[in-house]
Amino acid sequence: MRPNLVVPNPLLPKPQNVLALTQGLFLLPLTILTGCAMAVAYTECLKKPAEQWYEIMLATDNVPCYLANLLRSMRDRHHPGTFGHLLLVGRLCYYMGQLTGNEIPNFWLAGLGHDIGKLGIPASLLDEKNWCRAKDAIMRPHVMNGYNALVEKLPFIAHIIVRHHRFQLDPYPEELPALPEKYARLEEKINWLAKMVAIADCYDALHRDNDRNGLLNGHQIQKKMLVLWPNDKPFIGELYAAGIFTTDG
Ligand SMILES: [Fe+2]
Ligand SMILES: [Fe+2]
Repeated sequence: MRPNLVVPNPLLPKPQNVLALTQGLFLLPLTILTGCAMAVAYTECLKKPAEQWYEIMLATDNVPCYLANLLRSMRDRHHPGTFGHLLLVGRLCYYMGQLTGNEIPNFWLAGLGHDIGKLGIPASLLDEKNWCRAKDAIMRPHVMNGYNALVEKLPFIAHIIVRHHRFQLDPYPEELPALPEKYARLEEKINWLAKMVAIADCYDALHRDNDRNGLLNGHQIQKKMLVLWPNDKPFIGELYAAGIFTTDG
């Protein structure tokens, strides 16, 4: 079983090719959005070992203070395992943003925040690895919890994360919160970003032991990803080719 906080072999061996290729793409939007200093901080944080990366990610210069505080609560007071999952999915999303040349801060923050609503789910339930309908029903509100937690401070991210379970066979929530007028023309982009988060979430989840899949090796996970995302096989293939997803374990 993977450790909760220390990730000796992060799911993302640094894909140097992607990093080199896309640094320019990534610096430009970041510079526009947040200024040069923050762009440097993002770049620097990727060079650090995973343990340091966690702290740097949570520094207020890198993640909006509000989300950073929620992440700290998850780590220190609620469920470190979910905190580790959020960091890994955030990191995967970061690289997916680089690969697609898109929206890196939005990718990153949506990945980091996608399950923050699990702060409202009992920690004992988050530790439970066996799936059952009753547990599923208690877990489902985490998407609306997360949306409600972020919608005032990070509304664009909130509208992404509330969709991250909409791409599975039994999607939820059944009804999405209405998009505000200012995001109406961005609905397609929001859905696409949510799907990217869902793919990263699924990949990380498949690395955990559970009663549905057991503990899979890297090659089994790759096969499973292609089965679960039949319409996205080329993109999944790109993620493996770029080293963002890996069969190493
Ligand atoms: Fe979730
Ligand atoms: Fe998740």
